[in-house]
Amino acid sequence: MSGKRTFTMIKPDAVQNGHTGAILNDIITDGFRVVAMKYTRLTPEKAGEFYAVHRERPFYRELVEYMSSGPIVAAILEKENAVESFRKLIGATDPQKAEEGTIRRKYAQSIAANAIHGSDSDENAAIESAFFFSKLEIFE
Ligand code: CMP
Repeated sequence: MSGKRTFTMIKPDAVQNGHTGAILNDIITDGFRVVAMKYTRLTPEKAGEFYAVHRERPFYRELVEYMSSGPIVAAILEKENAVESFRKLIGATDPQKAEEGTIRRKYAQSIAANAIHGSDSDENAAIESAFFFSKLEIFE
């Protein structure tokens, strides 16, 4: 059965370019409920840990550098079938391939600076949520 929660980060490019409010509005309008949220910044060490699964990829260094380059907004979102529904809302990793109306199509700059992250499975949603939030910071 599909889970009800997913994890997201509004990435440094989108925060820097003033898109935080518009992106949160798109998320809420699509029916997601915010159950946890944090405005924070990743150290290079923390960004490296978060993206450890991509360690062997050629873009890993760029990704870690970029994700620690400025503030981000991390959040846990709730909706039926949350992971799949959210990935549909944000669109393809490469904004040029993302469908019209998706968050990445509207706000992303490039495949690296692609505005927003969305978990790719229920398991990763739980792992990524725990990376940023303690149980006391999640509001049912
Ligand atoms: P995200 O969904 O957060 O998870 C992994 C990230 O790696 C992805 O978004 C992109 O920002 C980044 N990424 C994926 N492919 C590339 C690439 N070819 N070059 C640079 N960054 C990439």
